[in-house]
Amino acid sequence: MEKFYVTTPIYYVNDIPHIGHAYTTIAADVLARYWRTKLGEENVFFLTGTDEHGAKVAQAAKDAGQQPQEFVDSIAPQFEKAWQELQISYDHFFRTTDPRHEREVSDILQKLYDKKYVYEGIYEGLYCEGCEKFLTEEDLVDGKCPLHPNREPQHKKERNYFFRLSAFKKDLLEIFKTEQVKILPVHRKNEILGKLAGELKDVSISREGVGWGIPIPWDKSSTCYVWIEALLNYYTATRFLAGKKEFWPADVHLMAKDILWFHTVIWCALLLAAELPLPRVVFAHGFFTINGQKMSKSLGNVIAPKELVEKFGVDATRYLLVSEFPFGQDGDFSLEKLKIRYNSELANNLGNLIARVAKLCENVGLSAPESPHNKFDEQVTDYLETYQFNLALQTIWSWVDGLNKKIDSEKLWENTAEKQGILIEIVGGLRKIAFNLKPFLPETAERIEDQFRGPKISAAQPLFPRI
Ligand code: MSP
Repeated sequence: MEKFYVTTPIYYVNDIPHIGHAYTTIAADVLARYWRTKLGEENVFFLTGTDEHGAKVAQAAKDAGQQPQEFVDSIAPQFEKAWQELQISYDHFFRTTDPRHEREVSDILQKLYDKKYVYEGIYEGLYCEGCEKFLTEEDLVDGKCPLHPNREPQHKKERNYFFRLSAFKKDLLEIFKTEQVKILPVHRKNEILGKLAGELKDVSISREGVGWGIPIPWDKSSTCYVWIEALLNYYTATRFLAGKKEFWPADVHLMAKDILWFHTVIWCALLLAAELPLPRVVFAHGFFTINGQKMSKSLGNVIAPKELVEKFGVDATRYLLVSEFPFGQDGDFSLEKLKIRYNSELANNLGNLIARVAKLCENVGLSAPESPHNKFDEQVTDYLETYQFNLALQTIWSWVDGLNKKIDSEKLWENTAEKQGILIEIVGGLRKIAFNLKPFLPETAERIEDQFRGPKISAAQPLFPRI
């Protein structure tokens, strides 16, 4: 692979950043950091951002007593700030209100229209504003959208432009089956293939009466349906960041399972219609709950990334979020569980190891040999390249345990001066741990590297104070 392009969904600005958004964004950051080390900074592109148009955002602006532009301008920086607090190394923060995006979207829509992939019709049916999605009968649970059971679906009858999605059914089945576009995890691919085998209807790509959007170029009385322009962000970003390498197609789109259909079926059909290359991998991770409940404003259980950062620190937050359960599976978080893991895995296992070794080195005046570690372990590489973050971390933690055991079995605190060979070996092990931790815990990795470098190793502040 010569370049790596990773994306997160662009998040709706009707909400403020929470740990659901942070989960995907940290995973993307881990991948970006890993590939930068392998391919060089200039060959990696990491895109995240905000989805700022549509009825839902317009309503949120109204509720806040603001004009939509003013409103989105106040929320988007909160996402940027949250990501900076988590050390997210994005290359570009995308906003769909960027005029360059608006121009590109117009051009693509016009192209689809000229190629007769778009036609005018009447949409009649239900719409969930929470999802910004047209609902079919099969989507409903007790007459409501299952994701927004507190909102009444809206009945719509409006003049819309439709995209001939149905024309792409055969091609889509083929590209997903042959893994020209790889849908991961595999059970998600099977779900998409199963659903795709049923009837595939054309989809509306415009909205009438939603002023807050990108105008349809040939009919300015309508605006582009928010999902269509949102998906296009992945491509348009690579267009207007001229001067950069050619990054399209994406190497992996990350998101939760809630929006996988859009990112596979709709997105790939749009790309086929526009004759653009297809993404390589679309990975849908699971959805998590907090203490068994869906995170929601009305339940008051939404956790902002900042809350975790204040409690645990940046690196620990990153670690705890990506390692709690396998990427791809649903799970549940609780602050209590996170605290237990923080104390045992970070404060005790890793933190103590570093402190013990530093102290032993200081006691005997050990200077670190010049042999920096600069290669990812093969097993860690395999896990990272197959999105198994928790297993990559488990592998690294097995080394941590191994070194702790070695210190105990060798009773390294007794006659340390005579056991310098073992101590040097352990310092080598720590450097290997630090290097492999870089994508996950960038600050910690750097601190460990700094501490065990140079002629004089000395004890330092604990990496993870117990809480
Ligand atoms: N704006 C659309 C995406 C357009 S991308 C072209 C959108 N935005 S969203 O703000 O609702 O973000 C949804 C995404 O946030 C999920 O796909 C996932 O990445 C992340 N998550 C939000 N809550 C989450 C959980 N509780 N658990 C896991 N991921 C979560 O949909």
